[in-house]
This record gives sequence, structure tokens and C-alpha cells, in this order.
Amino acid sequence: MSALAAVFAQYPLEVERAEGVWLHSRDGRRVLDLYGGHAVAALGYGHPGWTRALQEQAAACNFQSNAVPMAVRERAAGRLLRFAGGAFDSVFFVNSGAEANENALKMAFRMTGRAQVAAIEGSFHGRTAAAGAVTWGAMQKWHAFPRAPFDVSWIPRRENGAIAQHVTEDTAAVIVEPVQGVGGAFDLGAGFLDALRRRCDEVGAILIFDEVQCGVGRTGYAFAADLYGVRPDMITAAKALGNGFPCAALLMTPRVSQAVKLDSLGTTFGGGPMAGAAIEAVIEAIESEGLLANVRRVSEYVRARCAVGPVTGFQGEGFLLGLRMSRPARDIQAALLARDILTGTSGDPQVLRLLPPYILEEQHVDLLAEALASL
Ligand SMILES: Cc1ncc(COP(=O)(O)O)c(C=O)c1O
Repeated sequence: MSALAAVFAQYPLEVERAEGVWLHSRDGRRVLDLYGGHAVAALGYGHPGWTRALQEQAAACNFQSNAVPMAVRERAAGRLLRFAGGAFDSVFFVNSGAEANENALKMAFRMTGRAQVAAIEGSFHGRTAAAGAVTWGAMQKWHAFPRAPFDVSWIPRRENGAIAQHVTEDTAAVIVEPVQGVGGAFDLGAGFLDALRRRCDEVGAILIFDEVQCGVGRTGYAFAADLYGVRPDMITAAKALGNGFPCAALLMTPRVSQAVKLDSLGTTFGGGPMAGAAIEAVIEAIESEGLLANVRRVSEYVRARCAVGPVTGFQGEGFLLGLRMSRPARDIQAALLARDILTGTSGDPQVLRLLPPYILEEQHVDLLAEALASL
């Protein structure tokens, strides 16, 4: 019996080591990873620059708190702001996507003095009290706290006409994943996101983009905000940001940074030097290896090549791709894994989710296309 709490259903695959886009199992299988550990392994496995950065930082200084200035922390923040393209002027580092969202909401409440949040149907924002409260269905399924910390109003996906009734003068923040991940690689689109921006401006609410899953290059752009041309007040990022070293960030525009007060936010591990080294190495690799262009090109190739077998359509953006199936995605996922290809499911039972490393090539997509055609 396992010593681990029985929380997660287990795939029939025990990974011993990995390189590039390939996982090697204990029983000698080589499996193509199109899921990247829930969107984390952006650079794939054994990336030399990332590995070296962590080794060197571990040897130089493995940890100091945020009270002690360290160049690596400052460099990581600066690099992330430049990567995000100039709209943001400060970063608060934390440890996980949920924690980043928790802090973003906290800032919005502080700034507005209001008590309500609007979220989007189908959303997933994490498993802490506040992040769980804005996660679609969590209160009924797993939130587990006796009450939600604030009132939440739910906006139907892509329904521009419904926005005004849910986002009012009482709304502190709207939190939205520009491309929903768990919700089924569901792209909300520029029109809907722009309408949220305009309504937030009308009523004085703060717009938070949760880019924990869709950000840091996954859509083929630094952030989905760039892809859609809509500027939020805050972006939360995690997952790909550390390529497996746990870290997350809250990016703030000047309007939000100005409201940050000394000791108003806090963390022990967030912004540690190992996380800083990982973040720098991830952005360096994305930029120097042309990975954004690779994501865009290979994503198009998936759409062109994989409309075969049970696949009836595509949704999502870049390497947050949903393949709509004529049969339950869970069955397709199991059949692909039996053919040594790891993929994911989602909250939509008909959607198979692909979250591959950004280094994926056309030759790997050909393997997927052949396997799908045989199903
Ligand atoms: C969009 C989004 N937000 C937040 C989270 C929570 O992140 P974490 O598990 O790092 O707390 C996730 C995790 O899947 C996510 O997909």
C-alpha cells in the first residue's frame, strides 16, 4: 500500500527519467508527453540551461528570505516584467497558482473596499479558500470550508450581454482565465475579454487575468493578454514559470503597485533564489530558442494534421489545445496511453487536452495523428 494519501487517481505509468519530450517508465516504455505534468514542463525534460541555472544557484546560495536583497530575485522580476511587455511595473513572487490568485483578490478588495467578485462559468483558480470560491462548482464538490470568504457572481462564458448584470458598482474584481484550462481548453476570445475590460473600467472594478495555465508562452505569446490585446490590472502566473521548480508570480500594473503597502503581503519561500534562477532560465530559453514561434507553428500543425479518427474539432490556443472527440475523452486518453502517448482530459468530458512542452516538433505530432487515426 502507498504511503501517499489516496487523493489522485494513478495513470498506469511509472516514470523513472525523462529527456526532451519523452518519458521513460520503470518497465522500459518510452512515452511521448503531450501533457507536460499539468502544463508545467514548458522546456521539456533535462533542459541544459535550466538544469545548469539551478545547479549553479544551489551551489552559490540555496535560500535567503525576501528581507535580504539578492540580485537573482531582482533579475527574475525584471526579466519577467520585460517578457510581459511593459504594461506591468512590479512583481510579487509566491509559490503556487492558487496563492497568486489569493493575493490578487486580496489586492482588489483592498483597492476597492468592495466585497464581491465576478468569475466565469467553467473556471478553475485553485484550491485555497478564495481561489476555490471563484472556481466553478468547487463549493458543491470540494471547497470544504464552512462558507465562501466573499460573494461570487457567475458570468456565462462568452456572453457579453450578461456581463453588466454581474459586474456592478459592488464588484471588487473580475477574475478570468483568458483560455480556460480545466474548463476544456476553452478560449474566451478577444471580444468577451475586451467587454470585461470595458465594464471593469465603467464600474471601477479590477480585472485579473489568471494565466497560471495559459500564460508564460503557452498560447504562443508571452501572455494571453498579448494574444487578445486586452490589458488586465493584474496577471497571475505559475506552472510553466518554473518548469517544475515550484514558483508563481503576481504581475501588477502601476495602478495596483501603488496600492501595495509595506508588510501588506508576505511569503517565506516565494521569490527564493532557486525559484529566481528557474524563472530566469525559463524566460531565457523561451526567448533565445524561439519557442513562442515554435508553439504557434506546431499548434497549427496539430489542427491541420489531427482532424482524424474520433477528432471532430479543435479549441483553445497554442499549446493549450482541446481536441473535441466523438467519444468520451477519457477512453481516448486511455487508448493513446496504451500506444505510448500521454495526454490529458478536462472538465468537458468530450475534450482531450494537450499541454505539451514548447519544444514539441511536427514529427511528434505525426505520431499523435497516426495513433488517433487508428482509434
Ligand atoms: C488556471 C489555473 N489557475 C490556478 C491553478 C492553481 O494552481 P496551483 O495548483 O499551482 O495552486 C491552476 C491549476 O491547475 C489553474 O489551471
